[in-house]
Amino acid sequence: TDLTRGVHPDFMAKEIEQQPEVVAEVMTTWGPSVAGDLWPSFGLQVPRHLTIVGCGTSLHAGRAVAQVTARLGGIPYSAIEASEVATTTTVPGSLAVVLSQSGETADVLRAVDVLHQRGHPILALTNNPHSALARQAQAVMLCQAGPEIGVAATKTFTAQVIGGTAMGLSLLAAARLVDRSAVRRRVAELSGVPDLLAYAIGAARRSVPDLVPALLDSPGFVFLGRGSSRVFADEGALKLKELTYRWAESHAAGELKHGPLALIETGTPVVVLDDGSERLAANIAEVRARGARVISVGPEQATIPARTSTTALARGLDWLGPLETVVGLQVLARELAVALGRDVDKPRNLAKSVTVE
Ligand code: G6P
Repeated sequence: TDLTRGVHPDFMAKEIEQQPEVVAEVMTTWGPSVAGDLWPSFGLQVPRHLTIVGCGTSLHAGRAVAQVTARLGGIPYSAIEASEVATTTTVPGSLAVVLSQSGETADVLRAVDVLHQRGHPILALTNNPHSALARQAQAVMLCQAGPEIGVAATKTFTAQVIGGTAMGLSLLAAARLVDRSAVRRRVAELSGVPDLLAYAIGAARRSVPDLVPALLDSPGFVFLGRGSSRVFADEGALKLKELTYRWAESHAAGELKHGPLALIETGTPVVVLDDGSERLAANIAEVRARGARVISVGPEQATIPARTSTTALARGLDWLGPLETVVGLQVLARELAVALGRDVDKPRNLAKSVTVE
C-alpha cells in the first residue's frame, strides 16, 4: 500500500482522486456475491427494520444506504447519531447497521454496548477489520477503501455508500423483496459508478477554482437538497465546515421558507443540489431574488457539473441517489480551505478517530 502523497499536494486531494478506483475495488470484491452468498455469509436473520448508527460522515453514508433499501425494497429504517442511541427508543428486533470508518469512535462503541443490551444484532460497516467495532459486531462488511490519512473522510464515504448498497441489495435478494435478476441488474449498474465519479472529479476540477475567489469572505453557507440529494447536501456542508471553519448549514429545500431564508443576504452562497424539479426551481428563484449567490451542483449546465445528462448510465443509477455530487462538494470545500490557508489534512479541533465520548 502506498502511504505517500505522491504527486498530490495533500492527502485529501489524493483520496478524492482515488474514489473511482476505490469504488471499482468494492464492486470487484463484493459485486459477484451480492445476488447470492453475501447476505448468508453474515449469518444474520433477514430483518424487517434497520437501525442505522454512526457519527458525522459515516452517519450520512448510512442514511444514503438505508434510503436505497427503503426505495427499492420498502425496508423501513431509523437513523440515529451514535451519541443519541442511549436516549432514543429503538424498534425491537431491528438489525443495527453500525458505520464507522475507523471502527474506534467512542460514541459508536458505547452505542454498540447499548444496542447489545437491547438485543439488537449488529452488522458493522467499517474500513478497519481489526477495530473494536469489527470485533464486537455479529457480522462485518469491509468497505475496502484503503488507508485514509486526511482527517476529513472522502473515499471512505463513497466506499461506505457503495459497500453498504451492495450489502443492502444482498439483503433485498435474501428477503425476496427484489428478485435475483433485478439485483444482478442493479449490481451491473453500480459497475458504472467509477466512470460517473471520474467524470464528476474532472468537472469539479475545471469548475470550482473560478468560484473560490468570490467565496473567500463569505462567513456562512447554506446547502439545500431534497429527496435523495438531501444527505449529500448534508455531507457537503459538513466537509465545508470541517475544512474551512466557516458556518455551513444544510436543509431540505422546502424548509427554507420556515426559517433559513432569514439568513440570505446579497452574496450569501447557497449550494443547491439540483435534481431538476419544479419545486426546487421555485426555492432557487426565491433565494436568488434575495441576492444569494447560487452554486448549483448536478446537471451538465450546473455551476459544478456532476453528470452528463445524455448518458444512459446516469439515468440508470437514479435509484442510488446523486452520489457523484459529493465529489464536487469535496473539491469545493478543499479548494476554498486551501485558498484560506487551512491545513486540509489536519483541520483544527478534529481527529481521525475520536476516542472520547
Ligand atoms: C470524526 C471526524 C468526522 C467523522 C467522524 C466519524 O469526528 O471529524 O469527519 O465522520 O469522526 O468517524 P468514524 O471513524 O466513526 O467514521
